[in-house]
Amino acid sequence: MKAVVLGAAGGIGQPLSLLLKANPAVTELALYDIVNSPGVAVDLSHIATPAKVEGFLPPDDGLKKALTGANVVVIPAGIPRKPGMTRDDLFKINAGIVRDLATGIATTAPKAFVLVISNPVNSTVPIVAEVFKKHGVFDPKRIFGVTTLDVVRASTFVSEVLGDHSLSLSVSVPVVGGHSGVTIVPLLSQSSHPLPASLDAAAVDVLINRIQFGGDEVVKAKDGAGSATLSMAYAGAEFAGKVIRAVNGEKGIVTPTFVNLASDKTGGDALRKEIGKNLDYFSAPVELGVDGVTKIHGLGKITPAEKALVDAALPELSANIEKGVAFVEVPK
Ligand code: NAI
Repeated sequence: MKAVVLGAAGGIGQPLSLLLKANPAVTELALYDIVNSPGVAVDLSHIATPAKVEGFLPPDDGLKKALTGANVVVIPAGIPRKPGMTRDDLFKINAGIVRDLATGIATTAPKAFVLVISNPVNSTVPIVAEVFKKHGVFDPKRIFGVTTLDVVRASTFVSEVLGDHSLSLSVSVPVVGGHSGVTIVPLLSQSSHPLPASLDAAAVDVLINRIQFGGDEVVKAKDGAGSATLSMAYAGAEFAGKVIRAVNGEKGIVTPTFVNLASDKTGGDALRKEIGKNLDYFSAPVELGVDGVTKIHGLGKITPAEKALVDAALPELSANIEKGVAFVEVPK
């Protein structure tokens, strides 16, 4: 199991690489960045776990060497937000970074599972897909937008509302839609642990808003020094760990992720009907298997208020997706 981190020396990249090194299912770990990756690699290589670690920089075909033989590629490369910025403000710089890295994957490790963390995820996932189409190696089952941090935040914030932090490991809330502001839609009515009946509608709205804009709390607290890195590394390692377990044959793993709806035609078509819009990408609970996406689940029974949140997400989500697709422009 070779895992590769592109952007491995960054705020997310370093702790994510540490957590992947700590995963005994990983036998090879390649770290690529435009700076500092060899140092990070040597540091991690002293940890007594199975993964053999190597670091690569751009000269001497570093990207190609890092990607050769890759099974899972995680991409946290690119600039993070500063106070006042939306994720879409990152597009200008990160779109080009992700396109170039995707080109490297498409030419060197086209069968790898690609896990996109770089924002804006609603646009960078379509960028990876379009690059793969251009190279004739597109398999929608293998490309994922990592929305796990929204799920992790939902578990944490719901357990806080329940007044018991120790519940956070077992609280599970599906989060659907996309990964930015109003496109993040937590389905609290499907929480494994129901909200207290005493919680009024205004308090539920506060909770929903906190899950949607939780990233802003971190951006504000870091005060110009970036966005979520440690919680994102935790979430990224969680998601990568699930993909690795599924690829190694474990069945029944279901987790929300932002995928191309063609990856499971039946599920994708049913989901389009449910949301009432012909989108190509959406985040929904997805069952993972040896070949990636096995089944895209629907939204299930949602409340009228949750339906309104889904409706409110669609215009921004659709515009973000189109922007990503247009950036690469595959000639028809
Ligand atoms: P950072 O600035 O600390 O690290 C980014 C790393 O990418 C740096 O080490 C930089 O050298 C590297 N890099 C830049 N261009 C590169 C290239 N062409 N090839 C390889 N590496 C390259 O940023 P941080 O905080 O680690 O965030 C990274 C990305 O993750 C941002 O776009 C951020 O918005 C996103 N993010 C996504 C989240 C999610 O839930 N999906 C949550 C938090 C952040």
